[in-house]
Amino acid sequence: MIGTSTRDALDGAVTAIAAAGCESPRLDAELLLAHVLGVGRERLLTERELTVEGPAVRAFQDAVRRRSIEREPVAYILGRRGFRRIEVAVDSRALVPRPETELLVEVGLRLSNGARLLDLCTGSGAVALALKEERPDLQVVGSDVSAPALQLAQENARRLGLEVRFMQADLLAGVEDEFDAILANPPYVAESERASLAPEIMRHEPHEALFAGADGLAVIRLLIEQIGARERLGTVALEVGAGQAGAVAELLRGAGFATVDTERDLAGIERVVVGERSLGERSRA
Ligand SMILES: C[S@@+](CC[C@H](N)C(=O)[O-])C[C@H]1O[C@@H](n2cnc3c(N)ncnc32)[C@H](O)[C@@H]1O
Repeated sequence: MIGTSTRDALDGAVTAIAAAGCESPRLDAELLLAHVLGVGRERLLTERELTVEGPAVRAFQDAVRRRSIEREPVAYILGRRGFRRIEVAVDSRALVPRPETELLVEVGLRLSNGARLLDLCTGSGAVALALKEERPDLQVVGSDVSAPALQLAQENARRLGLEVRFMQADLLAGVEDEFDAILANPPYVAESERASLAPEIMRHEPHEALFAGADGLAVIRLLIEQIGARERLGTVALEVGAGQAGAVAELLRGAGFATVDTERDLAGIERVVVGERSLGERSRA
């Protein structure tokens, strides 16, 4: 592929990526080539004189190999992912933030001025950082049990110049600060689903970010138990897997959250369960 036109380079890449069974081969190929050439994706289509040459040839071949043979997620190859209005760096230290997780940010946007908020299970820090960027008045903390994920989240905060504090904790164990709200996208995949997960997920994303016992609710159950005892906490929003919303809503009601709502994602799946309780309800819980 020496001095190839972008069209020929793309056609070859699309064939390889499609043959590997990836879902969106053309989009993937365009994103990878635009990244290698350091141009916007639209320029690949509008500038016919663009060619792939010199070091870009090897770099593109390598990116296509990672995508097709190794089935690495495009976001890891690019090293970044757009989330709400920010772009976070991503690599194998943390899950690739998904579009449906933006629903958690929308819950956070409804909090009152200056509210103290914990993004629990923060991973790359995407939720915490997107919220701080949109609502600088909020006091945002992110936590995770994984030291490598926290390192990535801190790097993202520094690069984006956003003032979010990150700390290492196993759910709420040892977390002394009080919060008005907790948002979390915890691991919620059932062990039984292992075999059906895409290679992108199984081979590359951290397994501690994904699995949570036989029914996928092991982490959420523990978390809701811990949350019940938190005096100041008025709002909890939890991302859940398909079919889990009813059980999680019940657990939240049991922890004293009188109002429980569910938000659907773009695919119509009940994706985020939001529990709210007033001060009086909290002291009775
Ligand atoms: C599904 S990922 C979510 C990452 C990020 N919030 C996002 O939405 O892209 C779950 C995260 O929970 C963390 N985690 C797993 N078990 C945990 C625990 N017991 N306490 C705190 N964090 C945990 C994992 O390390 C992982 O970063």
